Amino acid sequence: MVRAICLFVLAILVGHSSCQDDEFLYDTFPEGFMWGSATSAYQIEGAWDQDGKGESIWDRFVHDDVPHIVDGSTGDVACDSYNLYQEDVALLKNLGVSFYRFSLSWSRLIPSGDLRHGFNQAGIDYYNNLINELLANGIQPAVTLYHWDLPQGLQEHGGWLNVSVTDRFAEYSDFAFLFFGDRVKTWFTINEPWVQAVQGHGFGDFAPGINQSGILDYQAGHNLILAHARAWHIYDGKYRPTQGGRIGFNMYTSFLEPKTDNPDDVFAAERAMQFLIGWFGHPVYSQDGDYPAVMKEFVAFHSAEEGFPESRLPQFTPEEIAYVKGTYDFFGLNHYTTMLAENGLFPYAPSYIRDGEIIPSFNESWPESAAIWLRVVPWGFRKVLNWVSNEYNGVPIFVTENGYADSPDQIDDVDRVNYYTSYINEMLKAIKLDGVNVIGYTAWSLIDNFEWTAGYTERFGLYHVDFNDPLRPRTPKSSAAFYKQVIADNGFPAPPPKL
Ligand code: GAL
Repeated sequence: MVRAICLFVLAILVGHSSCQDDEFLYDTFPEGFMWGSATSAYQIEGAWDQDGKGESIWDRFVHDDVPHIVDGSTGDVACDSYNLYQEDVALLKNLGVSFYRFSLSWSRLIPSGDLRHGFNQAGIDYYNNLINELLANGIQPAVTLYHWDLPQGLQEHGGWLNVSVTDRFAEYSDFAFLFFGDRVKTWFTINEPWVQAVQGHGFGDFAPGINQSGILDYQAGHNLILAHARAWHIYDGKYRPTQGGRIGFNMYTSFLEPKTDNPDDVFAAERAMQFLIGWFGHPVYSQDGDYPAVMKEFVAFHSAEEGFPESRLPQFTPEEIAYVKGTYDFFGLNHYTTMLAENGLFPYAPSYIRDGEIIPSFNESWPESAAIWLRVVPWGFRKVLNWVSNEYNGVPIFVTENGYADSPDQIDDVDRVNYYTSYINEMLKAIKLDGVNVIGYTAWSLIDNFEWTAGYTERFGLYHVDFNDPLRPRTPKSSAAFYKQVIADNGFPAPPPKL
């Protein structure tokens, strides 16, 4: 995403050209490669207060007197998938996907967020119905426990800034494994902790709207990592032996390319990867655990310079390092775009970007999308897959999101088809030419939906949704037909020879 970063600094910066494209690869994916599509609860379900659901921080955020959403919209109804889930499953079946990644709404299941105050049977029924409908259609449910919609009741106690949230998340995870784990064999703990930390607690453009960059983003991040580890251990110790599934984190990734070949910019780009991916990746996936050394060093340096008595980056105890390290079965990787990194000091202190001494920008020649933060840079996908594989010892990578934003109501979405063609092909090169172990791919998103602060002004769906019609009809776009063909072919088989 890096959306907020872009908004701050993008306009003034223009990168130099660096073209990494090479030939299209005609080949197929390994046998058993998994193809799927994804959504998240707040973005599609609607029914925000139906049948006993509790309020979440996104419900609170969109109903705030201060406008946060560009078109003034909400997810109150969204795609109405709470009531129309059978239609969504029919779309998935038509695509031919083997799995569907969706998230559970914590406050639909446990309205206050705290299981000690009770749970909501209607929420359990809803997800049981969805899971059963998927399985009846030959589609595996792949479930995200947390996609940013913290119960508001927990926010009242500090939310991700209060370490007790890790207890609540552990209880909620246990509850989800207990009720759904007999049928759900793929779990994701927390979607993009970076976004929840940086945009929710640093820049404040996302719920819960807290903006103390360089301080509270790190504290929220710390608890997000501990919460992930709690859920993983509960699954591993208590449920895996009988349920036999797998569970991992989902990371927001961009590739950061040095803006010039000056060694300062080369180091800045590697540092940017550590501040973006390593912040959450290193404690879990590296051999030694803990935050990346460069991150600890740079945050400590700037904290001291700014007169803080200690580093603004929280510290793990040795016991916590050991507890968090290795809590994965795969690396869930979300990827959309690439940026340039330049060595330099962001003017505001304290701040996360200044700590990293990174000035991000785009190369102006990279094609734009409807989202300011998303440029089309397919080769960056191959590079980030290689970076993660090299950094984390060949970890199996599950691509859990990838997609393109266009403006509303484009049914013949050729730009999305071009995006998917080139990005999926770069993933194929990473597997076939570079030996990266990618086990599956997930197109974001199945249907147009509530795109957070962009409301309904940016669309990511393979299927169009008419948000002006109370029935929310779904219509396939050209990209749905394209993706269906890729799945049927398991890639891009060689074209017939030219005569
Ligand atoms: C991801 C996020 C999704 C979706 C997508 C497109 O970072 O997990 O919920 O919003 O970006 O912006």
